[in-house]
Amino acid sequence: MKRYAHIIGWGKYAPDRILTNDDLSHMVDTSDEWIRTRTGIRTRHLISEGETTATMSIRAAQAALEVANVTPDQIELIIVATSTPDYLTPSTSCLVQDALGATRAAAFDLSAGCSGFVYGLSVASGLIRAGMYDTVLIIGAETVSTFIDWTDRETCVLFGDGAGAVVLQASESAGGVLASVLGADGSGAEMLYVPAGGSRRPTCADTVAQGLHFLRMDGRQVFRFAVNVMPIASRQVCEKAGLSLDDIELFIPHQANDRIIQAAARALQIPAERMFTNLERYGNTSAASIPIALCEAVESGLIKRGDHLVMVGFGAGLTWAAAAMQWSMPWPVPPQPWWRKTLRWLHYRWARLRSWALRTLRRLDVEIRKPFNHEMEGESQSQREERVK
Ligand SMILES: CC(C)(COP(=O)(O)OP(=O)(O)OC[C@H]1O[C@@H](n2cnc3c(N)ncnc32)[C@H](O)[C@@H]1OP(=O)(O)O)[C@@H](O)C(=O)NCCC(=O)NCCS
Repeated sequence: MKRYAHIIGWGKYAPDRILTNDDLSHMVDTSDEWIRTRTGIRTRHLISEGETTATMSIRAAQAALEVANVTPDQIELIIVATSTPDYLTPSTSCLVQDALGATRAAAFDLSAGCSGFVYGLSVASGLIRAGMYDTVLIIGAETVSTFIDWTDRETCVLFGDGAGAVVLQASESAGGVLASVLGADGSGAEMLYVPAGGSRRPTCADTVAQGLHFLRMDGRQVFRFAVNVMPIASRQVCEKAGLSLDDIELFIPHQANDRIIQAAARALQIPAERMFTNLERYGNTSAASIPIALCEAVESGLIKRGDHLVMVGFGAGLTWAAAAMQWSMPWPVPPQPWWRKTLRWLHYRWARLRSWALRTLRRLDVEIRKPFNHEMEGESQSQREERVK
């Protein structure tokens, strides 16, 4: 029996703190007028103390699981698409797995810049179609604000923080993710990158003094690349899915710059209304931009059951990605009974307790071993040699 991968739940999270263009004009030499006319952005959300890529991912994931009416122990795989993880290692997806109490789930992060969410959707739908998993959680989440040089007006006006998530599930009904197109061109790596903090230039006082831990971007080159690749990837994915551009009710492009989106619409010869935009309020949230936009498009009634969508993105790498799908969920989603919500709430409390208990047990384990470790430290070279023999 042929398997299909359907989005059955979606959720988003944007931090409460909002930074306006006027706020930015007090921080760097810029103006609301410049930012609006060159990018279309008016405001962006930024994390507050205690918020991270993982905490935002968890909030978006919880919302998606609620819509999907799926419990965390049904999830078999968690993919977090991010270029701004909590740590270099472990992956942010493991932190999400722990917080959700998704005890059966494998977890990994996916780094493909702003194309990351569509990359993740493509990988997950392939795994579902191949029969490896039935239920996968895919999250796009970023705290770009922590990698921004807030004195660099060419980058700091563009980005925002946020997270979006979807639950993808196997079904025998036709539809869901129909086709995807992924691409990369590493010759453009330095067009959009963080020069230090990796193995090539590990963080040291010098790299910090030079600000090499901040995002660097050649805005004009990235603009040219984006305007070129968005229509190509959109056409290719439609062709692969056996659809014409006219069959697509709504395009959900990566929300980087309104001028890029409008240029793509012109190149595809489609009316601007068929390109969903919300970057005015979010700025560029990188891998989170497409899932956040998808949530808003669904929740504003722009996507109906049976509609065809194309999600298309580009980003650091350089990378690009497009996915064509047929939407299969109703909106509004029927409300859940109170007891289901209570069970969900209890599950997340239990997950916290479980995590705490496991951490404590590990710590206690160390405490129990300590005297033994001291003993080992205290032994002489000859005693050690004797023991090893
Ligand atoms: C960054 C971007 C908005 C700049 O717009 P642009 O029209 O290309 O602007 P330019 O680079 O030609 O710069 C025009 C001038 O504005 C200045 N400028 C740049 N940022 C500014 C700001 N925030 N406020 C005021 N002036 C600014 C530049 O210094 C330049 O001045 P100059 O002419 O005296 O040298 C645009 O190139 C862009 O969106 N690129 C893609 C970026 C992107 O999407 N990145 C993420 C990819 S996932």
